[in-house]
Amino acid sequence: MSKRLSRRGLLRGAAGASAALLIPRRATAYATVRESAAVNADIEIGKINPYLHGHFAEHLGTCIYEGLWVGKNSPVPNVEGFRRDAIEHLSRLGIPVLRWPGGCFADDYHWRDGIGPTGDRPSRVNIHWGNYTEDNSFGTHEFVGLCRKIGAEPYIAGNLGSGTPQEMRDWVEYCNYPGGSTLSDERAANGSKDPFGVVYWGVGNENWGCGGNMTPQEYASHYRRFVTYMRTFGGTRPYLIACGPSSNDPSWTRGFFTKLYERQRRVRIDGYAMHFYSWGGDSSTKFTVENMREQLSSFAGLEEAILQQRAIMDGFDPERRIGLLIDEWGVWDRLVPEEEKQYGRLWQQNTIRSALAAALGLNVFHRQAEKLHMCNIAQTVNVLQALLLTDRDRCVVTPTYYAYELEKPHRDGMSLRTERTGDSPLGVSISASRKDNKLAITLVNPKHNTNLELSVSVRGAKLDGGTARILHHADRNACNTFDAPSEVTPADHSVEAAGSMVKVELPPLSIVTAVLEIA
Ligand code: AHR
Repeated sequence: MSKRLSRRGLLRGAAGASAALLIPRRATAYATVRESAAVNADIEIGKINPYLHGHFAEHLGTCIYEGLWVGKNSPVPNVEGFRRDAIEHLSRLGIPVLRWPGGCFADDYHWRDGIGPTGDRPSRVNIHWGNYTEDNSFGTHEFVGLCRKIGAEPYIAGNLGSGTPQEMRDWVEYCNYPGGSTLSDERAANGSKDPFGVVYWGVGNENWGCGGNMTPQEYASHYRRFVTYMRTFGGTRPYLIACGPSSNDPSWTRGFFTKLYERQRRVRIDGYAMHFYSWGGDSSTKFTVENMREQLSSFAGLEEAILQQRAIMDGFDPERRIGLLIDEWGVWDRLVPEEEKQYGRLWQQNTIRSALAAALGLNVFHRQAEKLHMCNIAQTVNVLQALLLTDRDRCVVTPTYYAYELEKPHRDGMSLRTERTGDSPLGVSISASRKDNKLAITLVNPKHNTNLELSVSVRGAKLDGGTARILHHADRNACNTFDAPSEVTPADHSVEAAGSMVKVELPPLSIVTAVLEIA
């Protein structure tokens, strides 16, 4: 619980009885540097769509099976088959949107395998992630059920690579047609009389790679054919998302749109999704300072990619009717085979450095809010940059979860123009937003050896106190483990906010969000 402080309370607090609460574990051995930044409360960038804080869950390793779904008869405490601890943590954080079933898995998934009585569902080999078999006990009904339980908007990635237009079109009808067609009656017989009303539909995934190894021209032709049949049913107009590039690849984007519009411009496309991973030079808990610098610097590249991809899209779509999405993003460290064997494919630990990466990414998205529709970090549980790690009945909340928690006050806020000194990718990162009479500022200090005393001048608003939370650890490889689950956790932090000035201290490797009162 955040502690609300008045200006006077703040000054007293630092020396008073609550000081221990407010002062973070400080790295006093480091140099302290004074820096300044600015927030222009009167220059609005655009609304921060909560979907910029979205998530992704694939049939991969132990993300779905074990991480989210254990089945009703499991000894792991569950609610109708969903892990109780995962449901509780994800509901508390709020998952605005959840993408499923892949990833690469999506283009080898046939939705009919995952409906009907569980015992009758076929067992299939997961060819992308280790050739193990899945019993399909988690399918469309379970996915939508999960979304309803945690309050997430469902986003289904359809199969373009190995599926047919008919299969994808039927999935939309099965989910969204109100009743009276064979498919919608089948849905009702399978337990859901009410339509699911799924709005978000991905038309393939990474079709330049695992989704069919296509050229942008080939993909554009398939895309055009598939979406011809993906219709509005029962008032739910599907938001159709095309596969975008791997990182900032301009040739895919130019090639795709040129081909898509070669004959006519009336092709249904609502979103265009880029994937952007930040690669790690070592395994998660063995990062050197250099590994960390390299990975965290990639977020400058992410911001550049958003600007450049949007600019290319603007050439084809000057009115910005098509939304830019970052469907998959996050840190992808060197994987440890023994850990993957124990916990599942693409399992990686999650450290304070991962949390900094999450906060750097979210700050980028806030700053570019008017160019983006949705961003989904990969992946929710037990895979890559996870929010939760599970081991049988144990569940650990990762530093990345806490980074999302700290950035949550920005959801639905109006993003504001910020300024900082210098343009180093490892300089202080800032994003700010205004909601009603509150100003939220998130600051990240990615440096491992510098304490920052930051003065933020706020133009266009007068402030009167506020509260702050910090996530910080002096050890870049610190993480939460099953045996020590609370090594990296947020705490209250001291902030001074009066008139047009905010003063806050950022220890090395820290994220601070201040929520300030606008007088
Ligand atoms: O997130 C893991 C994998 O990364 C996804 O399946 C794929 O889309 C991407 O290459």
